[in-house]
Amino acid sequence: MRAAYRGRQELFTEADLACKEPIGQFKVWFDEARNEPSVMEANAMCLATASKDGTPSARYVLLKGYGPDGFKFFTNYESRKAKELEENPKAALTFYWEALRRSVRIEGTVARLPAAESDEYFHSRPKASQIGACASNQSTPITGREVLSAQEKYLASEYSDKEIPRPNWGGYIVVPHSIEFWQGQSDRLHDRIRFRLPQETEKPDGKLLHEGDNGWVYERLSP
Ligand SMILES: Cc1cc2nc3c(=O)[nH]c(=O)nc-3n(C[C@H](O)[C@H](O)[C@H](O)COP(=O)(O)O)c2cc1C
Repeated sequence: MRAAYRGRQELFTEADLACKEPIGQFKVWFDEARNEPSVMEANAMCLATASKDGTPSARYVLLKGYGPDGFKFFTNYESRKAKELEENPKAALTFYWEALRRSVRIEGTVARLPAAESDEYFHSRPKASQIGACASNQSTPITGREVLSAQEKYLASEYSDKEIPRPNWGGYIVVPHSIEFWQGQSDRLHDRIRFRLPQETEKPDGKLLHEGDNGWVYERLSP
């Protein structure tokens, strides 16, 4: 009895969707992950980019805001990821919350956040983080750690009583066209429900493809 009950609790069916659009559904899962003590950094997400010739690269960044417009993160505008995003403004994000056996996959197009928003966020960070962002030419080779320490020391004294100007560092927003919710199951028949923006000619049939809210459709994928 107990095993069967636990099994049902883990299932993620279409009836279990809190929302018929993915941003509201993301909020429910993200809040659960944030409130789960064994999830250390619920906002850590793997960001995949690709160069113009299609060579992929991936790294973790932190989600710093989300809503119907998209998913935001901040980084150095001269980093490898930034260079790839400038020449190929498409990205994929993946969250994995192990304790909940859940993953969310987001795909979309990328744009820079307005400079004013990057300024505001940059200056809201602790001074040490602002100095850290200025001290590092992210993704470039250096001879040793002492290069960073020296730069940090110099900047700390230079800006001890002044506002630190934002370096070539700021935000991006991933504007999603596809968001998949994956719920792992002990029997390996995992649940996958993907929301996506439909093609112009596509009509939901209520069987394979379902009509969602706010222009989204959703479908169940084989695990
Ligand atoms: C959990 C975690 C969170 C991170 N968050 C960020 C972030 O928000 N922004 C960032 O630029 N780098 C972040 N990093 C560092 C990146 O993973 C990466 O080392 C750096 O951005 C350089 O990537 P690139 O050379 O591909 O541009 C984070 C690393 C980890 C492990």
